[in-house]
Amino acid sequence: MAASVFSCYTNVLLLLVLTSLTFGSLMVAFAANFNQDIDITWGDGRAKILSEAKLLSLSLDKTSGSGFQSKNEYLFGKIDMQIKLVPGNSAGTVTAYYLRSEGSSWDEIDFEFLGNLSGEPYIVHTNVYAQGKGDREQQFYLWFDPTAGFHTYSVLWNPGRIVFYVDGRPIREFKNLEGFGIPYPKNQPMRVYSSLWNADDWATRGGLVKTNWTQAPFTASFRKFNANACVWSNGASSCSNSNATNKTWLSQELNSTGQKRLKWVQTNYMVYNYCMDTKRFPQGLPRECNVTNKA
Ligand SMILES: *[C@@H]1O[C@H](CO)[C@@H](O)[C@H](O)[C@H]1NC(C)=O
Repeated sequence: MAASVFSCYTNVLLLLVLTSLTFGSLMVAFAANFNQDIDITWGDGRAKILSEAKLLSLSLDKTSGSGFQSKNEYLFGKIDMQIKLVPGNSAGTVTAYYLRSEGSSWDEIDFEFLGNLSGEPYIVHTNVYAQGKGDREQQFYLWFDPTAGFHTYSVLWNPGRIVFYVDGRPIREFKNLEGFGIPYPKNQPMRVYSSLWNADDWATRGGLVKTNWTQAPFTASFRKFNANACVWSNGASSCSNSNATNKTWLSQELNSTGQKRLKWVQTNYMVYNYCMDTKRFPQGLPRECNVTNKA
C-alpha cells in the first residue's frame, strides 16, 4: 500500500515535471519576440520590429539597406527563421541570413537569397567558412515561390555536422572531417545576422540584371525566430550545466529518409556545386570534395 502510494506520488511528480518541460519548450517556441532576441544594427529606420515584436521587416532603397543581429552568441544549435523574401522584381537584391563568429579567422554558415525579375526564380546561395576560409558555395532553386509566403530556413550546427534545411527538408550537409585535416567550425561562438542589401554587380545572372530602383523600397519579412541552441556567455556554454532540456539536435544526424530527401533536392534543384567546379580549382578540388561523396 505504502509502496503504491509512493509510486503514484512519483508518477504525478514525473508528470508534473514532464508537463512543465513540455510547456517550457512550447513557451520558447511560441513566445518568439524580436525585442528580446535581436538588435537592429543598421539601416537608419529601414529595419522595423512590428506586430507586438512577432514580425520584423528589413528594407532596401537606393540610399541604404538594413540589418539585424541576435543578442545572443551560440556554440551549436538548431536555429530556425521564417522568411518571406522580397516580392516582385527583386533583381540585384540579396537577403542574407547567416551565423558568424568574430575575428580574422572566423567561422560562418551562410544562407543568401539572390533576387530575380518578377516570375524568375530566386537562388538560395549557401556557404561554410571555417577559420576564415570559405569558397564552398552551393546554390539551389526552390520548389515553391519564396515571396508568396513565409518559409522556414534552418541551420543545424553540432559538433558532427552542419545541415541547411528549407521547410524541414535538408538541402546541404557539411560534415566534420577534421579527421582528414579539414577545419570545422566548433570552437568559436557565432551570432545570427540578417541583412537586405544591394549586390547587383553579381547577384542576378552573375550581375547581368541590375536593380530597378523605381521598384524600391524592397522589403523582406521575418518571424518565428527560434534558437534551440547552446548560448555562449562569459566564456561558458549554457549546455554545459546538465539541465534536463532536450538537446537531441546536439548529436542529430541525417537518417536514411533525410539522406533521400537531401538527394532529391541536390538532384532536382542544385544550380551550382563548388565540388563540381574543376575549372575553378585547377590545382585540384578542395579536399572535402574528394573525402565525402561530393560534400
Ligand atoms: C534568374 O532567372 C534567370 C532566368 O530564368 C536564371 O537563369 C537565374 O538563375 C535566376 N536567378 C538568379 C539569382 O540569377
